[in-house]
Amino acid sequence: MKVGVVGLGAMGAGIAQLCVEAGLETVGREVTAELGEKARGRIEHFLTRKVEKGQIEAFDIGLLSLTTEVADLADCDVVIEAIVEEPAAKQALFVELERVCRADAVLATNTSALSVTEIASATSSPQRIVGMHFFNPAPLMPLVEIVRAELTEDAAFDAAFALGEQLGKHPIRCHDTPGFVVNRVLIPLLNDCVRVLDEARVSPEDLDAGMQHGAGWPMGPCTLLDLVGIDVHLHASEALYDKLREPRMAAPPRLVAMRNAGLLGRKSGRGFYSYDKT
Ligand SMILES: NC(=O)c1ccc[n+]([C@@H]2O[C@H](COP(=O)([O-])OP(=O)(O)OC[C@H]3O[C@@H](n4cnc5c(N)ncnc54)[C@H](O)[C@@H]3O)[C@@H](O)[C@H]2O)c1
Repeated sequence: MKVGVVGLGAMGAGIAQLCVEAGLETVGREVTAELGEKARGRIEHFLTRKVEKGQIEAFDIGLLSLTTEVADLADCDVVIEAIVEEPAAKQALFVELERVCRADAVLATNTSALSVTEIASATSSPQRIVGMHFFNPAPLMPLVEIVRAELTEDAAFDAAFALGEQLGKHPIRCHDTPGFVVNRVLIPLLNDCVRVLDEARVSPEDLDAGMQHGAGWPMGPCTLLDLVGIDVHLHASEALYDKLREPRMAAPPRLVAMRNAGLLGRKSGRGFYSYDKT
């Protein structure tokens, strides 16, 4: 089994790491050799830490080859796309993948908010296109949503599901609807939490404690939003609202103000809480 990963950013590097960890031959494609090398460095770093902690015995970074050429994905069995969340860029890539890859190769997208069916519609083989929606950080989060687009055939869907299992994930089956399963539920719920901050005049600390100790959440909603990134959450919220128009999906003004002020959460050093950036 040979897997291609296109785009080695936050998600793609995590997915490539999972492939290497699972002992699969992996080809990573980035736009420049430098970005590819950076991603390989991060993957090696995380896998080395896992060895040091005794979580894995060893890994073979030699399983990962890097390229800037889509043509080098020609003999992959499955290619997972994790490039920028822009419909035109994704469609252009899938047209190229379709031209280059074997006719029986499965082509998967890690999109969070775009329609898999729409991405597939740019190609002439939509039956082999499927969603594989990993969660951030991909090496740590157990879930992957396997998304069936309108024209996805069983063979491609089943192959993506089997790969999810092979990568040590817990795959679930769903259809190509806005937000798929988890984001469809979680995004409006987190927006509710933010609105309650103002309605109930409760502090982030108390709201977090409330949801942890009263609802059994593993972490409170403000802590979770800081971890995800206020900008990333708002992007998903706006995309969901655009498609489904439920008022709860609309971006809460408090979060928009935070984004405008650069309070993006953990990554910027401050969101609902302050973090030591060192
Ligand atoms: N970050 C998240 O929480 C998250 C979670 C689930 C899914 N996703 C989805 O995963 C995808 C990637 O998100 P990310 O957060 O990793 O973004 P990112 O910006 O960290 O990484 C994208 C990478 O793709 C590269 N790239 C762009 N165009 C390319 C091309 N044509 N070929 C090869 N590489 C290309 C960029 O250089 C960059 O390194 C998006 O579709 C996003 O919606 C993100």
